[in-house]
Amino acid sequence: MAQRRTLIAGNWKMNGRRADGLALASDLAGRLKGAGEVPFELLVCPPFPLLFPVGEAISDSPLLLGAQDCAVKQHGAHTGDVSAQMLVDAGCRFVIVGHSERRQDHAEGDALIAAKAAAAHAEGLIAIVCVGETEAERDAGQANAVVSRQLAGSLPAGATAANTVVAYEPVWAIGTGKTATPQDVADMHAHIRAELAGKVDAADGVRILYGGSVKPGNAAELMAVPNVDGALVGGASLKADDFWAIAASC
Ligand code: G3P
Repeated sequence: MAQRRTLIAGNWKMNGRRADGLALASDLAGRLKGAGEVPFELLVCPPFPLLFPVGEAISDSPLLLGAQDCAVKQHGAHTGDVSAQMLVDAGCRFVIVGHSERRQDHAEGDALIAAKAAAAHAEGLIAIVCVGETEAERDAGQANAVVSRQLAGSLPAGATAANTVVAYEPVWAIGTGKTATPQDVADMHAHIRAELAGKVDAADGVRILYGGSVKPGNAAELMAVPNVDGALVGGASLKADDFWAIAASC
């Protein structure tokens, strides 16, 4: 079986003014430095305006920088967009694409998400491709079918274990305090692992993160589930103690 290094990612979403973001990132960078060798990678994904200052503040630390979205185009007349090239300039190594909040708020479909992931890959970024079903889809027994469709449509040609991470985030668990049970997570991550086999080069090496109300109190149990290679954390990533406690439970 391929070795998959645990990735603990913090999605700050639309939170954090400059001072807060710098303080949080510097705190985490300091903890990482003090911890020496750790069995995980730690990643923070601030909102766009904080990418450059946070990137500079952590440039000499093992704390990794990511973004929450990127444009399909690399430059030009695309008002308001931010290109993968610009993310690289800021020091990003990763970019989240297809988060359910963007699928919902910006009507992002699978084809657009695949194009964004391809644009990220073209600039050497690792794309964290998000998938996950709604409560209604789960209640209708469609969870596996929905995730299969999202994977088939959102993973671009050229996706490999080196440039792609998948994040399973059941929509009904995001920000609700309702976490998927370890069995739900085990079943879906096994399904995703099987689905990847035909779609991604070296699929067994692709990291699959779980996201959806991950907290210090449930992280150890969730990270122990087979095919869970880390977490994509929202609310709890905004507090250094909580985010570090989640990482330390791996
Ligand atoms: O991208 C991670 C996020 O969607 C999970 O949010 O607040 O439930 O940890 P939260």
